[in-house]
Amino acid sequence: MAITFDEGRRIFTLTTRNTTYQMMADSFGYLLHLYYGAKTAGFTDWGLTFADRGFSGSPYELGRDRTYSLDALPQEFPVQGTGDYRSPMLIVRDSEDTYGADLRYSGHEITEGKYSLPGLPAVYANPGEEAQTLTVTLSNNRLGLSVKLLYGVIPGKDIITRSVIVRNNGSKPFTAEKLYSSCLDFTHGDFDLITFHGRHTLERQYQRQRLNHGSYSVGSRRGMSSHQYSPFVILADHDATETHGRCWGMNFVYSGGFCAEAELDQYGQTRVIMGLSREKFSYGLEPGEEIAGPEVIMTFSSEGLGKLTHSFHACIRENICRGKFRDSPRPVVLNTWEALYFNFDGRKILDAAESAKALGVDMLVLDDGWFTNRNNDAQALGDWSADEGKLGCTLGELVSRVKAIGLDFGIWVEPEMISEDSRLYREHRDWAMIIPGEKPVLGRNQLVLDLSRMDVREYIIQSMRGILNEGVTYLKWDYNRSIAELYSHSGSNGKLAYKYILGLYEILERITSEYPGVLIEGCAGGGGRFDAGMLYYTPQIWCSDNTDALDRLTIHYGTSFGFPMSAVAAHVSTCPNHQTGRITPLKARYTVSMTGAFGYELDPLKLTDDERREISGQIRQYKLDREIITEGLYYRLSNPESDNYCAWEYVSHDGSKALISVVIPQNHGNMPVIYITPRGLTHGAFYRDIESGKIYPADALMDSGFPVDMPKSDYESFTFRLERM
Ligand code: GLA
Repeated sequence: MAITFDEGRRIFTLTTRNTTYQMMADSFGYLLHLYYGAKTAGFTDWGLTFADRGFSGSPYELGRDRTYSLDALPQEFPVQGTGDYRSPMLIVRDSEDTYGADLRYSGHEITEGKYSLPGLPAVYANPGEEAQTLTVTLSNNRLGLSVKLLYGVIPGKDIITRSVIVRNNGSKPFTAEKLYSSCLDFTHGDFDLITFHGRHTLERQYQRQRLNHGSYSVGSRRGMSSHQYSPFVILADHDATETHGRCWGMNFVYSGGFCAEAELDQYGQTRVIMGLSREKFSYGLEPGEEIAGPEVIMTFSSEGLGKLTHSFHACIRENICRGKFRDSPRPVVLNTWEALYFNFDGRKILDAAESAKALGVDMLVLDDGWFTNRNNDAQALGDWSADEGKLGCTLGELVSRVKAIGLDFGIWVEPEMISEDSRLYREHRDWAMIIPGEKPVLGRNQLVLDLSRMDVREYIIQSMRGILNEGVTYLKWDYNRSIAELYSHSGSNGKLAYKYILGLYEILERITSEYPGVLIEGCAGGGGRFDAGMLYYTPQIWCSDNTDALDRLTIHYGTSFGFPMSAVAAHVSTCPNHQTGRITPLKARYTVSMTGAFGYELDPLKLTDDERREISGQIRQYKLDREIITEGLYYRLSNPESDNYCAWEYVSHDGSKALISVVIPQNHGNMPVIYITPRGLTHGAFYRDIESGKIYPADALMDSGFPVDMPKSDYESFTFRLERM
C-alpha cells in the first residue's frame, strides 16, 4: 500500500520506491507535517518539539499550557489567523470582511488510482501503474468551509502530488484571497534554493542561493507562467550535486500566474509553499461553490539533482503528456518564421517545402503571416481565414500541394489574442479584456480575449476547426503578450485570472480530443508558458525565441532540471543569428538543437551545397538518435557556472547506448584538456565509441572520464555514441 493510516497515532504515511512522506492529525485536529525524505520504516513524530515560545500564541483549548504553537510547528496546510505568522496557503475573508479560519481535521479517505481535477490538468496513472489518492478533509464550522487536501502517490516514479479543493458548505458567501496548493515545512533549515529566472529570449536561467532568514519568492503576475520565473523550484542541501545530496522539487501544473515562497523563520525552520498568484485574485465562493487549486508535483531525491530530474522527466513525459505524440516520434520541421517572417507568398512556401523535402524534413510549419491582412504584427489576430491572395490558393489547396511534395503541414496560430485592427474586434469589442474608461495596455500591438466567456471559447474552437479541417496536422499555438488588465463584461473579475486559464484548458481539451492526430506545439514568444500545465495538452513547447546556439546552452540547461527533453523544441537557424548577431558553426547549432523536438528555421533555398549536404546528414543522424533523445535518461555532465564547456548525455533505459554531446564555447591558448565523465552506464560492462572504435570500461569511464580533442576554434562541438559490448 502506497498510503497507510495508523489509527492510534493518526499518522498518514505515503510511500514511494525511495521516499516516505508523513503527516499527523494531532489530538487538536491540526494536520502537522512530519517528514518527507529517504524511505524509512516507523513513525517520525519524535521530530516534533513543544516549547513556550514568546509571541507565538497557542490554541484556546490548551488553557495555560503555552508549549504548543502553530507558529513553530510544521504544517500541511497553514491558514491565516491561527497564530502561525509565517506565510499561509489560505487566506479567507468572510462576508463581514473578517479574515481567518481555524481548520481542523474532520476525516479522510484513501482510494485506489490517482485523483483528477475539474477543468485542470493533473498527473494521471497509466493502465497497470500503481497509484493511490489520499483525501484529507479539514473543516471550519463557523464559515461552513471545507478544504479537501488531495495527495496523489505514484510509487514507482517517486512522485507525490498535492492539490486542494476549497468549498463553501455554509450559508453565507466568503472569499479566498490566497490559495496555494502545496507546502513543505521543515523543522530545520540550512538549504539552498534553486530557481529559474529569465526574460524573453533568455528563459530559465539557473540560480542557486543560500536560503537566509526572511522570505524569498518567485512568481508571475502576468497571467502566464512567464519567461521571467519558472513555476518550478528546488530546495537542496548546500552540498547537493548532480550525483549526491538531498533535494526536493516542486513543479506547478498550471500555466497562469503563480507564486513560490521560501521562508527561513525565526526558529531556523524552513517553509516552501507554491500556488496561484495573489495578483488580482479574490475568489468569492457562494454557498455550494468550490475552487480547485492546481496541482503541484513533488519529488525527493537523496541522490542529488540528477535523480530528481529523472523523476520529473519520467512523470511529465509519461503521466502528464498525452496523446499520439507522447510516444511516437516527433516530426523534423522546417519553420518559416526566421526564414521568411511576413515576406512570403504561396510560391515561396512551396519552393521552401520542395527544398526542405530534399533535405529530409518531415513537416513544413507555416508561421505567422498567412491569414488575411496579416503582413505585420499590428493587425488581424482573431480573423483566422487564409489570405488567399497572398497564398495564391485556399489553405486547403496549399496543404494539399505541400502534402503532394511529401511533407506534412503545420501552421501558426495565436488564438487567445485579438488585434484592434481586425474584423473580430470591430464586431466584438467586449470580447477583449479592457477596463471600461481606461486605455488598454498594448502588448505587441494586441489585446487579450476574455477566455472566461463561453462565446469566446466557442469562437476559438470553431476557428481552429476551420484550419484543422483543411488537413493541417500540427498547430504552433502562440501567445505573445502578458495580461495587464483583467476585466470581463460577464463580471467576477477576482476570478478572472483563474477562469481565463480554465477557459484555455477547456479549449485545448476539446481540440485535442476532437483531433487526436494533431500535434500541438506550445509557444508564448518562445518559452513564456513552458510549464507542466501546457504539457498536458501540448507535448512540446518552443523553448525560446532565441535560436542562438550559445544562449540555448544555458536555456536548455535550466529547462532540463524540471522538464523532459522531449518537450524542448529547438531549431537550427541561420547565421549571423537573428537575436544575437553571433556566428557559430552549423555543426554547433545542430549539436545544441538536437536536444529534443528538432527542426530548422532558415531559408533552405539560401543554403550552399556544402550546407545542404551537412544538413541532410544531420537530419539522417537525428532520426537515428531521436528515440534515445526523446526517451532516454538525461544527464547534465557540466555546470555552466564553473565549467568552460557544456556537456550532456542521454542513456537508453536498458543502459545499452549512450549519446554524449559537448560544446566548447571558447577556445583559449594552451587549453587544459577537457575530460567528460559519463553517467548511467552499466557497471562492469565495456562500451565502444562507435565512431572512433575505442573501447572503454564503464566504471573507469564513469570515474575518470575520457579526454576530448583540443578545440581548434570557438564553438567546437562533439558528439559521442557509446554502445555496450
Ligand atoms: C512569437 C513566436 C515566434 C514566431 C512569432 C510570429 O514570437 O515565439 O516563434 O512564431 O511569434 O509572430
